[in-house]
Amino acid sequence: MGSVRAMASTRLLCLFNAKAAGSTKTLARAGWRSVCSRRNVCSSPSRLQSCMSAWVIDQYGTNEVLKYSEDINVPTVHSPSEVMIKVHAASLNPLDISMRGGYGAKLLKLRRDPMSVMDNDSEFPLILGRDVSGVVVDCGSEVTHFVPGDEVWAAVPPWKQGSLAEFVTLTEYEVSHKPKLLSHTEAASIPYVANTALSALVNAGGLCRDSSSNKRVLITGGSGGVGTFSIQLLKAWGAHVTVTCSQNAEGLVRGLGADEVVDYTAGDVAEQLEMMEKFDVILDNVGGEMEQLAMGMLKPWSGAKYVTLVTPFLLNTDSMGLLDGTFHAGFTLHSKAIQNLISSGVFYRWGFYAPDGPALDEVSSMVDAGKILPVVEAQFPFTQVPQAFQKLEDGHARGKTVVRVAEEDERQAEGLVQETAEVEQGVQETAKQH
Ligand SMILES: NC(=O)c1ccc[n+]([C@@H]2O[C@H](COP(=O)([O-])OP(=O)(O)OC[C@H]3O[C@@H](n4cnc5c(N)ncnc54)[C@H](OP(=O)(O)O)[C@@H]3O)[C@@H](O)[C@H]2O)c1
Repeated sequence: MGSVRAMASTRLLCLFNAKAAGSTKTLARAGWRSVCSRRNVCSSPSRLQSCMSAWVIDQYGTNEVLKYSEDINVPTVHSPSEVMIKVHAASLNPLDISMRGGYGAKLLKLRRDPMSVMDNDSEFPLILGRDVSGVVVDCGSEVTHFVPGDEVWAAVPPWKQGSLAEFVTLTEYEVSHKPKLLSHTEAASIPYVANTALSALVNAGGLCRDSSSNKRVLITGGSGGVGTFSIQLLKAWGAHVTVTCSQNAEGLVRGLGADEVVDYTAGDVAEQLEMMEKFDVILDNVGGEMEQLAMGMLKPWSGAKYVTLVTPFLLNTDSMGLLDGTFHAGFTLHSKAIQNLISSGVFYRWGFYAPDGPALDEVSSMVDAGKILPVVEAQFPFTQVPQAFQKLEDGHARGKTVVRVAEEDERQAEGLVQETAEVEQGVQETAKQH
């Protein structure tokens, strides 16, 4: 692995893009201590009966619909397998932007409450935010892996109330013990992209720790949340990793271990990729034209797999209704799968996020072993959730955008700022060498 890893302690943020690094540094220095005043939330049962603060939406729309409220019901434990978590940090994903605008509303509403089809109950107020790092405050009677006080992390399923709130409640299966070496801010950057990448690469892509060492994998859109995690996971599993990204993200992805990098902004990406040896697995984070191009870059008739995370499934159910939309999506998937299998012997698959606490346990061990680093590009205090959404919406992510829901202790924050400076220097040196 490049010198970034050697230089970075196991809990460091990789910040490559100079502009992003600068803004993050400013945020870290100015915002860490002052912007968000410490909120007085205690975890005593009596306090938990009342209300909590959260960022909610009461309708779908643009950033203006995000609303801070202190009157949201605390999500107490209702079933024996549930774990209630005090949120310390959350992070944002492209899905949050889409869900804010109503993406997936029909299916997710049904999943939230199957009876809503009958009684037309509203899904609002809806809390967004899919990642959480925090501390367990309450457990159902059948919970065996966690006790109050445990530091945990999880990816909150999109059909559940999200983590941009003081508390979130999940089932035990969805939760995992957070890596010991990471702060909550760092830890919150990983669960959703990790669960998504693992589901896509393992379930759909057929890869695993023991079968990846002789595999050539292409990751498109390697500089974002899913990409930066996937590069590190696959390198830890011994795969050969090629990445497509913008020129100014090359240093970042190489620092994370990418073997070969294709700058999609420098001419014809297909031409550049076609000159390379063909791939065993392609993880597509970009979609669009890339889908068609990618099929020709897989090894034919040898079990190679194309897995895309950019699927029309929820768009179909939104526009056509649940039955027609599901049927249409299923038809699209199966006809593409059959066509590609017959014409070139490659498997065409859709990848989806899947909640999986045990998978996060594995990731936690890899993080504590220094094999996976959090890649936090920007962080915002809880008071600035709309600004965090705006950052994500502006695009060109280089890793993750994190929201500090409860401020971490000052000492830890100070450490982060120092380490951030060290790694910026390390990454810049790595970039010079390239
Ligand atoms: N199906 C699921 O369950 C699921 C789950 C998670 C994510 N997803 C989807 O998967 C995709 C990736 O998610 P993410 O969280 O990694 O998104 P992200 O953090 O926003 O990252 C996207 C990255 O792709 C780069 N990019 C954009 N156009 C590109 C191109 N043509 N070629 C190469 N790189 C390009 C962007 O940087 P530049 O624009 O600067 O190049 C950015 O770094 C998103 O579409 C997301 O909605 C699906």
